Amino acid sequence: MTATLIDGKGLAARLTDDLKARVARCEAAGHKPGLAVVLVGENPASQVYVRNKIRACERAGVTSIEHRLPESTTEAELLALIHDLNQDPMVDGILVQLPLPAHLSADLVIDAISPEKDVDGFHVQSAGSLLTGRPGFLPCTPYGVMKLLEEAGCDPNGKHAVVVGRSNIVGKPQALLLLEKNATVTVAHSRTPDLGAVTRQADIIVMAVGRAKMLKGDMVKPGAVIIDVGMNRDENGKLCGDVDTADVMEVAGAVTPVPGGVGPMTIAMLITNTVEAVERRLGL
Ligand code: GUN
Repeated sequence: MTATLIDGKGLAARLTDDLKARVARCEAAGHKPGLAVVLVGENPASQVYVRNKIRACERAGVTSIEHRLPESTTEAELLALIHDLNQDPMVDGILVQLPLPAHLSADLVIDAISPEKDVDGFHVQSAGSLLTGRPGFLPCTPYGVMKLLEEAGCDPNGKHAVVVGRSNIVGKPQALLLLEKNATVTVAHSRTPDLGAVTRQADIIVMAVGRAKMLKGDMVKPGAVIIDVGMNRDENGKLCGDVDTADVMEVAGAVTPVPGGVGPMTIAMLITNTVEAVERRLGL
């Protein structure tokens, strides 16, 4: 068997294009959606992510409002900016690119964002809403993973899903979203002994542990659907995921590539959440 590659890049482009009609409805109701993008410091990876997010805004017809701040920005300065953005009627969503420089508390800054504008879904209230099944913004990467499963024709209902990774941004919310769709969910992580014994039970594997090419073909049940959230460099400095893609191809049913899988979907869901923020506020 050779696995199907799930085209995240193509799906993200389609979803972003589909947002244009919703953006037009917002504009007809008197408001063009706006996303504030806050980048502190010079982290090169963050600069690439931010550029891609701004491009996706352009594609969907969403206004992006950039705030690039120096590494030396104080917590008080950043909190004052967040406060201003919370009050700004042109701003529907606020994105603070992570990681922040070490002297700034991400928790403090994220929780200063108004939950109505928390389009990254990282605010503690958004996390609580997800946990308790109440309306709120879903974190973009796990939300995008659910769309990728749908694209692959994989309904989690009744399936065994193994999530490898337990971060607040991906692993934990991913497990909740799969549970919500009636999967039986196991969360494994970097300290799980004999990871292969766990992943071999899985119909769905979501790898979000941050270890280059960790998932091998002999750790996969034939036909399993594998979503690779990893973004690492291999021994030659080449971008790779947490999945040894070439190795699992002969066993898995479907797998997302890196790049071109989850990454573009995270951005598409960010723009989706931004448009959703306007629709909720205007009652559209
Ligand atoms: N850094 C890595 N991933 C993300 C993300 O999804 N959102 C933000 N704000 N920062 C990140």
